[in-house]
Amino acid sequence: MPELAYVNGEIMPVEEAVISIEDRGMQFGDSLYEVVRLYDGRPFRMKEHIDRMRRGAEVIGLDLSKAGDLEEILDELIQRAGLKTAFVYLQVTRGVTPRNHVIPDDLTPTVIATVRHLEELSEERYVRGSRAFTRLDERWARRDVKATTLLPNILSRSYAVGKGGYDAIHYEEDGTVTEGSVSNLFCVIGGVIRTHPTGKKILPGISRATVLQLIEKMQMPFAEQAFTVAEMMDASEVFFADTYSEVMPVVQIDSQTIGDGKPGPVAKKLKKAFRRVVIAETGADL
Ligand code: PDD
Repeated sequence: MPELAYVNGEIMPVEEAVISIEDRGMQFGDSLYEVVRLYDGRPFRMKEHIDRMRRGAEVIGLDLSKAGDLEEILDELIQRAGLKTAFVYLQVTRGVTPRNHVIPDDLTPTVIATVRHLEELSEERYVRGSRAFTRLDERWARRDVKATTLLPNILSRSYAVGKGGYDAIHYEEDGTVTEGSVSNLFCVIGGVIRTHPTGKKILPGISRATVLQLIEKMQMPFAEQAFTVAEMMDASEVFFADTYSEVMPVVQIDSQTIGDGKPGPVAKKLKKAFRRVVIAETGADL
């Protein structure tokens, strides 16, 4: 099945998709994006993803009203592509203008999307657990907005992967841990699951929200409370949560072994439950 793209109303093979060189998304990162996972060809929580884009558009004053019905656009693209294990990348830019920092009025947004095959992480990766490396959080102040200004994120992830890790773990100047470069982060300290509260400092992840619902449903001890790097190093468990990995245990951070160096019971339980929610909500045959 072909990997397809959508560009401003047209669907074509990805390699044929083009946009203007004066698109503000390309020149300034003046754009928002979402990544939605397809299970058995069915999107998981697409509405929540698009709602998050709408909230981000309000923050940056990007008028989505002329972007069309984004859910309809993605549904059509997904049907046409017919891919089963895949992900949809959606990006809406403010539009095309001769380069100018000042945002002109009345621009028509550029809407692009792709559907690409997804190489699922192997079961072995989850059994073994992943390694992460800490990194000062040098991203902009509005991390709750899923903007394509991802230079700090790509530098962090490349740094961590270059050292043999899965992802970076960002921390603030005062040592407070925020999140990964593509993931939210949880840890278990003293038997209590903790994660950074939502607000401007982290992206309100859809997977994070799913994990929080599961924690509540299974009545697991939880506090929406930030933690420091020092507390994280002493945690019995640490795990990422994001669209690609769902729940990914972290068993080593820098040179510190986390817990007993193996994925813990909390992360394993949440990963299994996450899949059950996906199957229940999408009807995917997994
Ligand atoms: N990233 N935090 C950051 C900084 C992210 O970029 C992401 C997602 C998340 C997890 O959000 P969600 O559960 O909605 O995927 C947290 C996507 C996957 C990406 O940039 O490819």
